[in-house]
Amino acid sequence: MSGSAITPWVVGNWKMNPMQAGAKQLVQELKQLLLDQPIEESKCHMAVAPVALALQSVQAQLQDSSRSVCTVAQDLSRIAGTGAYTGEISAELLKDSGIDFALVGHSERREIFGDSPAVINEKVKNALNAGLTVIYCVGESLQQRESGQAEQTVLQQICDIAPAVQAGQWQSIIVAYEPVWAIGTGKTASPADAQAMHAKIREGLSQITPAGQNMAILYGGSVKPENAVELAACPDINGALVGGASLNAVSFHKIAQAFANTK
Ligand code: PGA
Repeated sequence: MSGSAITPWVVGNWKMNPMQAGAKQLVQELKQLLLDQPIEESKCHMAVAPVALALQSVQAQLQDSSRSVCTVAQDLSRIAGTGAYTGEISAELLKDSGIDFALVGHSERREIFGDSPAVINEKVKNALNAGLTVIYCVGESLQQRESGQAEQTVLQQICDIAPAVQAGQWQSIIVAYEPVWAIGTGKTASPADAQAMHAKIREGLSQITPAGQNMAILYGGSVKPENAVELAACPDINGALVGGASLNAVSFHKIAQAFANTK
């Protein structure tokens, strides 16, 4: 198999940022950079995940971009369809609004909002059944890493979603490995450690589905232009899920460039 034959994805996770005017400016700057210094679509897929309120305006603003930049929901409801569920946004509502991607299982959802494996499975199932591509986030805590549980934790998180995924749906999943201790901390897993975990994830996926050989496995956790080239050089790192650095158009564009040029 060759993890390096997979077209990389660079996805910006804007989290609960910025205000509408900031989002507009960020997209404008990114579009201009992509015009001035193009990144071939065949070399790197790109996407951004704004807050739910800005999904459609960001998508509309990206429509006349010189290349495709997809729009990703940061979360979705564990309830499918429509109904009396105050405050929720279902997979079907996202799809109906032209949104084709959703993050599921981000560590902030797991830790702060209590998304359990059962809830995550419902979200994964709903998203896939509605025709969304899922960016499924996994990663160990510092304590799990220090006690030698990193690999077991992450492989368990991969196995957790297996009951929610039908055989033909694995190709609609992108995995993002984000060690929790590296998110927003400035600490990055060393490229060697990240590659080792990505290879394990690919092995784990391949035991579940033949699609595992071709699934993109992104790295996330303090990715920035300064470490992107080294990470991109690792054969099983097929892109990045970028938080903080994606709020700066120049940094985000540089990270995508690094993956496009290195892969
Ligand atoms: P970070 O966030 O790049 O700011 O560490 C990554 C993420 O949480 O997706």
